[in-house]
Amino acid sequence: MSSLEIVEKIKELAQKKDAVILAHNYTRPEIQDIADFVGDSLELSRTASRLSSKVIVFCGVRFMAETAYILSPDKVVLMPDPLAGCPMADMITASQLRRLKEEHPGAKVVCYVNSSAEVKAESDICCTSANAVDIVKRLDAKEIIFVPDKYLGTYVSKMTGKRLILWQGYCPIHAMMRADDIIRMKQEHPRAKVVVHPECPPEVTDIADAVRSTSGMLRYVKETDAEEFIIGTESGIIYRMEKENPEKRFFPVRKDTICINMKKITLEKVLNSLEKDEYRIIVPDEIRVKALRSIERMLE
Ligand code: 13P
Ligand code: SF4
Repeated sequence: MSSLEIVEKIKELAQKKDAVILAHNYTRPEIQDIADFVGDSLELSRTASRLSSKVIVFCGVRFMAETAYILSPDKVVLMPDPLAGCPMADMITASQLRRLKEEHPGAKVVCYVNSSAEVKAESDICCTSANAVDIVKRLDAKEIIFVPDKYLGTYVSKMTGKRLILWQGYCPIHAMMRADDIIRMKQEHPRAKVVVHPECPPEVTDIADAVRSTSGMLRYVKETDAEEFIIGTESGIIYRMEKENPEKRFFPVRKDTICINMKKITLEKVLNSLEKDEYRIIVPDEIRVKALRSIERMLE
């Protein structure tokens, strides 16, 4: 079957089954093109919570599909590839978090949405890269534990002036970026603005013009009066940047910043997902209800 035929079949089946296709900003161009909505983690969770469709086909990584299910347990949430995980989310388990909480009794726990449902269930409030600074700023607590991303945590701590107890997790893709990469790219493109994701190490966020979530980066490049941008995140985002801003130019900090998990979602797998109602994402109720509390607190 040609790609065009697969796309036609996907559209036909999605309509027949009352399915909405959600995709993250890092997914392959052809996935973004067939999606009903493309966004960052916060936008995707908000959209998932408001949808009235029966089925959600989630084109992203597991924690995102889990979050959609936690918010909408009455819907069928499908992942085209159940093995598309997030290595950072796997860097902390619920029992490790319980142990950390025992070491800091009374501390409030903020968990980055890039975490398992079990870790969310052990946390007081969830956050995404778009709202982490606001959430920590408003949190009234003597001690705050922040898991699992040490780099996002360091950035939030700097922006809020609050000391955080950090877990030592990180995103292997964003952790590759170095200040030297930015300096080299700036030499090649001196007029370019540098915009990076807060999952990058501090040496990178410190010298960027802007630090934003993926959709925040998309808004920044649209609204900023510059013609060239150096982009410090997973390079899949450049597809949407170029599509929405054909008159501007975008250069990745490094060409090899590719999240292989996001790229596991292909057109063939989306079609298979709709044909066979695979792969259903379900979070057991005892975990779901607790995790929901921390996600709802964030959305409030
Ligand atoms: P955003 O919420 O900014 O889209 O980030 C998700 C992510 O996984 C970044 O690596
Ligand atoms: Fe996880 Fe990093 Fe991929 Fe985002 S880019 S999903 S944090 S591995």
